[in-house]
Amino acid sequence: MQTGSRDVVTHVVRMGSILFAFSSQLNPGATTVLGDEIGAHLTKHGDGVKDVAFAVADCRAMYEAAVKRGATSVLEPTESSDEFGSVVTATIRTYGDTLHSFVQRGSYSGPFLPGYRAVTGPADPLLSITPAIGLERIDHIVGNMPDKGMLPTVEWYERVMQFHRFWSVDDSQIHTEYSSLRSVVMADYDEVVKMPINEPAKGLRKSQIQEYVDYYAGSGVQHIALATHDILHAITHLRARGVEFLRVPDTYYEALRARLAAGGVAVKEDLAEVQRLNILVDFDDRGYLLQLFTKPLQDRPTVFLEVIQREGVRGRAAACENRRSIEVRLPSSRSACLFAPLHTPPCAAVQRLRRWQLQVPV
Ligand SMILES: [Fe+2]
Repeated sequence: MQTGSRDVVTHVVRMGSILFAFSSQLNPGATTVLGDEIGAHLTKHGDGVKDVAFAVADCRAMYEAAVKRGATSVLEPTESSDEFGSVVTATIRTYGDTLHSFVQRGSYSGPFLPGYRAVTGPADPLLSITPAIGLERIDHIVGNMPDKGMLPTVEWYERVMQFHRFWSVDDSQIHTEYSSLRSVVMADYDEVVKMPINEPAKGLRKSQIQEYVDYYAGSGVQHIALATHDILHAITHLRARGVEFLRVPDTYYEALRARLAAGGVAVKEDLAEVQRLNILVDFDDRGYLLQLFTKPLQDRPTVFLEVIQREGVRGRAAACENRRSIEVRLPSSRSACLFAPLHTPPCAAVQRLRRWQLQVPV
């Protein structure tokens, strides 16, 4: 989908309930999008997430409650409409230059938002070579803060968004030989939306969180985790499309087999296949999860994606072991195009572009 704007172009792609909107400035003049000049944002941060947007039942009520509790407004509730119906949106600021939009779609039946039109043209040629990937929904979105930036951000989510602490770790729990971090996972009342908040901790080398903050020029979204029910299939075909993931050493799998045996955990997936695809495994007393991280999506070592399959594990505790087991420092690299337009039912999810917006079902 794309708009007819002459100042900013936005392309929206969808897979399952995941929507990414990619925006770029078309003219060199100052073009304001969601309160900022898009070109200046790109120059400062590079490619990154601009807006994590939430689908809500009542946009005005959400916005007014958030502003009353101290949120900084970017866009007051605004109704827009076209032949498919109307949508109400509003936007507030969160950490760094990142925003949260509230999107009330109601009975809107268009492809994305008013003003966007479905693109008609040749089908993605890759679909004739590889099958659909099968990513279904956004699982969590992680934000990186500078040193001492985590707790004020956690407090902001508690006070303004009325989220609660779902899980937390300190630097004694998440560290590698060289890098260390602290993290608190914030969740909404229903624990559908999860927003982990990280900050760096001291290690032998600069924390990967500090490296992100340095290259991104401040706080921002570190990664977006996308859930699937068949990660073996998803990783196989993402690799076939050229997506590059972190490499996991064979020693990880030797230790993993011992840990699974000691924990009495039965993983239904073929472990040889899991190892061949370099997928990470972790578990707690409620189940296990499989996950893998892409390399950064741009030259700066900043935002990347995660693919995750949960089998009983609700939280992020399992990720702790994986972070202990491998160096999470991320080299700079490029990845191939991840998302092709797929044919799935509409749902909330995002906006982005070179400054992205996201919508997570609430
Ligand atoms: Fe994650």
